[in-house]
Amino acid sequence: MPKLRIEGGNSLCGVIDVQGAKNSILPIMAAALLAEGECVIENCPRISDADAAIAILETLGASVRRRGNRVWIDCRSPLNYEIPDDLMRKMRSSVIFLGALLARCGKAVISFPGGCELGPRPIDLHLAAFEKMGVRIEEDFGCLSCDAQHLTGCEIPLSFPSVGATENIMLAAVRAKGTTVITNAAREPEIEDLQAFLNEMGGDVRGAGTGTVIIHGKDSLHGCSHRVIPDRIVTATYLCAVAATRGNALLRKTRPDHNAALLAALRQSGCEIEVCEDLIRIQCDSLRASRPIRTMPYPGFPTDAQAPFMGLMCVAKGSTVFVETIFENRYRHIAELCRMGAKITPEGKVAVVEGVSRLRGAPVEATDLRGGAALMIAALAAEGTTYLSEIHHIDRGYEDPEGVLTQLGASVFREE
Ligand code: EPZ
Repeated sequence: MPKLRIEGGNSLCGVIDVQGAKNSILPIMAAALLAEGECVIENCPRISDADAAIAILETLGASVRRRGNRVWIDCRSPLNYEIPDDLMRKMRSSVIFLGALLARCGKAVISFPGGCELGPRPIDLHLAAFEKMGVRIEEDFGCLSCDAQHLTGCEIPLSFPSVGATENIMLAAVRAKGTTVITNAAREPEIEDLQAFLNEMGGDVRGAGTGTVIIHGKDSLHGCSHRVIPDRIVTATYLCAVAATRGNALLRKTRPDHNAALLAALRQSGCEIEVCEDLIRIQCDSLRASRPIRTMPYPGFPTDAQAPFMGLMCVAKGSTVFVETIFENRYRHIAELCRMGAKITPEGKVAVVEGVSRLRGAPVEATDLRGGAALMIAALAAEGTTYLSEIHHIDRGYEDPEGVLTQLGASVFREE
């Protein structure tokens, strides 16, 4: 199995460009199902979750071409409406195709997206919303058969600002009869990116980024071209890597305004940060513990940055308290970090990190996508060699991580 060999101790310095956003490209690829024309998507990251989404599109009958970071998607031919179980299980967020399938085909058959490393990943908010929109859903043996012959817009108050549920409802509503109003909607930048894409297709969606999204249904949507926003969690990851190695680097093609909470935490921990348009410069000479980190829906501290930031706080002076409020089981990276000499005490949703002066390289396993990022950061700061295995988790969301880190002066090698 491939692994990363990381020789710790180099200060990361230099310039890198940030990739397109994984959590934007996935709903946008689902939205392309709704176009009666070709969609051209720029800045698509070369990551395995994008490969999985393309495999689903092709299984449904779309034709997809890809060259580097550009993807052409054409869904003009008649589409299937069933996503096979193996593809559904490959990526939890495959459920994002449900709303678009209902709107395009009037029906859909999918299997329950399995839980994942972060704990149970229910989709009750998605299904309750679709039923309110007139969709008939039958479940047996883990398979969901949905009939949406009479998809109708309505008021949908979300009990939690679920990112996926907000996106799925937008994808169904944009071709439904009448108007849909989502209240307590998620406000993440990826929701705004999806709104922009749907409107470029001729949709009528407003309010993304606020707590209320209003969608006026349309009879048809056309193709378009769109550039995906930068990945704010990849940005956070590499900022933490530079800070953990007391480095000095410039990140380009990013969106500082999408990372306000993380930048505030890095500044509070002693990092010097300068931002300008699509640039972030970070320099860190000494690192102190942060104020307590409580993960919250956007614009609060992102749950996806919890693990990378924890990897950084392992080598800060003092103790940092983390409270993970979004997912039930998002501390699986703690045991692996402790194998490297980190001092972390988890207690339910809380974890207390006592910074140490030095971590030691060790053989560790990525437990999930962002947990793997945390271990990469710790290994870069550690003394000695770290062998990081199960890196398929990392490849789901990070484009060429060893190439990017090498560009900053790290000693990172992918070994079979
Ligand atoms: C999206 O997942 C992201 N994934 C996640 O990023 C991110 O951590 C999460 O939003 C929160 O920001 C993509 O966009 C592909 P949610 P999603 O619905 O949509 C509960 C990464 O590392 N919930 O906002 O699944 C759920 O169990 C990934 O890039 C319900 O109870 O997140 C969780 O506790 C990981 N019922 C919480 O809400 C539902 O119907 C947040 O879930 C839906 C969600």
